[in-house]
Amino acid sequence: MDELFRQRVIAQFSLGSRSCHSVDHWDRVAAYGAFLGGDSEVVRYFALLHDSQRWSEGHDPEHGPRAALYAAEHCGFLQPEQLMKLMLACRDHDRGRTHSDPTIGACWDADRLDLDRVGISCDPNFMSTAEGKRLALRRPWERQKEVGIVS
Ligand SMILES: [Fe+2]
Ligand SMILES: [Fe+2]
Repeated sequence: MDELFRQRVIAQFSLGSRSCHSVDHWDRVAAYGAFLGGDSEVVRYFALLHDSQRWSEGHDPEHGPRAALYAAEHCGFLQPEQLMKLMLACRDHDRGRTHSDPTIGACWDADRLDLDRVGISCDPNFMSTAEGKRLALRRPWERQKEVGIVS
């Protein structure tokens, strides 16, 4: 991923680096996503973008659709099928659904595996992938160690 692109996304994020939906979260989602598989490029861009259009710490049901729009406007360099998956994954990531597509499933699982950052424990029933279900059952610290987030 182009570092300039990443810096641009970080710079436009309106909640700042102290938000629990900020870059630290995006990086953990990227680590979980890389571990879970799917199209690695789509998963990487999902991690960076999915919460980047949040305007509020709390209830903000349009942040997914706004992230999909941001992807449409700024990720034209992806293959059309990749862009479509990225947009769908961003748009619906907080709708509590699962998906059979391995890439979209990896995106959503990666995001939900980091729910313990806000004191919500991971529920395997809301995971799309087998690995996501398995990781959801591990203790946060053990899970983060397994995917390399902590050493
Ligand atoms: Fe979100
Ligand atoms: Fe998120």
